[in-house]
Amino acid sequence: MQIECVSTKESAIKECDAIILGVTEGKKDLGFLRDFLSENLVKRIEKYFTRAGAPIRKNDILSFDGDGQIIYTVVLSKEPSMENIRQACGHTVDFVCGQVHRNVAVLADSFGTKEGNLTDRVEAMAEVIDLALYRFDPFKPKDQKRKDLKTCQFIFRDGKDVTKALKAVEIGRTVSESVNFTRDLVNTPSNELPPRVLADRASQMAKECNISIKIYDEKELQKMKMGGILAVSQGSVQEPRMIVLEYGDPKKPVDFAFVGKGVTFDSGGISIKPSDGMEKMKYDMAGGAAVLGILRTAAKLSLDVHIVGIVPAAENMPSGAAYRPGDVIWMGSGKSVEVLNTDAEGRLLLGDGLFLAERYKPKMVVDLATLTGACVVALGTVVVAVLGNDPKVILKIKEAGELSGERVWELPLWDDYFDQIKSDVAEIKNVGGKGGGTITAAMFLKQFVNYPWAHLDIAGTAWAEEKKPYFQKGATGVGVRLLTKMMRKQ
Ligand code: BES
Ligand code: ZN
Ligand code: ZN
Repeated sequence: MQIECVSTKESAIKECDAIILGVTEGKKDLGFLRDFLSENLVKRIEKYFTRAGAPIRKNDILSFDGDGQIIYTVVLSKEPSMENIRQACGHTVDFVCGQVHRNVAVLADSFGTKEGNLTDRVEAMAEVIDLALYRFDPFKPKDQKRKDLKTCQFIFRDGKDVTKALKAVEIGRTVSESVNFTRDLVNTPSNELPPRVLADRASQMAKECNISIKIYDEKELQKMKMGGILAVSQGSVQEPRMIVLEYGDPKKPVDFAFVGKGVTFDSGGISIKPSDGMEKMKYDMAGGAAVLGILRTAAKLSLDVHIVGIVPAAENMPSGAAYRPGDVIWMGSGKSVEVLNTDAEGRLLLGDGLFLAERYKPKMVVDLATLTGACVVALGTVVVAVLGNDPKVILKIKEAGELSGERVWELPLWDDYFDQIKSDVAEIKNVGGKGGGTITAAMFLKQFVNYPWAHLDIAGTAWAEEKKPYFQKGATGVGVRLLTKMMRKQ
């Protein structure tokens, strides 16, 4: 699909078959529309919105017969926030595409907000359009794949806005392309994406983006004594991989390292999960996939940063060779861990990944993981949990959260929680007992960290259980927009 930016003077509106515009809740005077549409049409729309009982709920879509096109109006809240604009725009473009329109025009000026400037707004709109139109359909027969839009034109009243908007569209689309790259990986079933294949996909991406990559296989991991990832992987016939990517000037210090959980399938292992819902555990590599997406965006936007991405990838399976509850393992860092539950595997391979990150002497590290069911219980599916050892790092992430639409909420990581992971037989154990599951998991990770660090638990946000305004059911690619924003603010 092509996204174009034009001004009213070019009157490109005629070439499209649908026109999308935002109407703020309770607004009776739609005079501004006269710059774009005929007097007659504007009157009709105005009349509808002033009629008692007209729908005024946020994100409601209404259609009107226009002069050759169909007009779709979407209701924005009274003082629209940037997220409101994202939702309304993404939701409506997706809806209109479903009505088999192929060429649509969006009246960009009608999606106004108090937050941000024109570029921010256009960037956000372009971003969500690609997110909303995304479908995961490689396994669907041809006739069941949805047809994409051909063109989407952003129409501006002022020709001066067009040049600025073009650049913003390009940036927005680059980000969403990476989010969708991440979503593809997360949606792909585990039989098609074992650790070896995840590493291949990372290589392909790295090659395309001029990112350097090093992939450690099982033998090398054994030499490095990476006991965490090896233990998790040992029950599976699929070999583990530790994927390490690097983007930026290698002579400069590393600004950020990102570490992502890459469990390509989490059956729970010997502490096996209930079969109900187990199929969803293909998304247990969403953190790792987000790290790949983040590196991809940084490279495609040529951001002036030096970053490292680390993805420990393994499959957690029960078998005669699997690790057992009660086993004691030695982590890459040299710490001993008593395994009380083989389903608490994420922290084991992340512990090794976080330890490896230290080699690069990063200024700060962020890890992303679908780490705990407790996170879903505590915060649901709306917000990412953030915990860490450095208020400045956490603040950066919170600010990026407000701007990107991927919001975060902090949980405490006080030393008091350490008692819950003390072991009788080893230095620490991999479960923290009753209460505070997200916190004790983060406390476990903290034992492998020697730098300013934040941990993001994305168990609730990496997968949408149902359609959201600009996401279909399935992978969301959470983390890519958030941490791209954080890097760009730097
Ligand atoms: N991958 C799961 C966490 C998870 C649960 C992610 C639901 C997404 C949705 C993780 O490996 C896990 O199983 N954690 C256990 C830890 C427990 C055994 C201490 C959990 O949360 O139940
Ligand atoms: Zn698990
Ligand atoms: Zn897991």
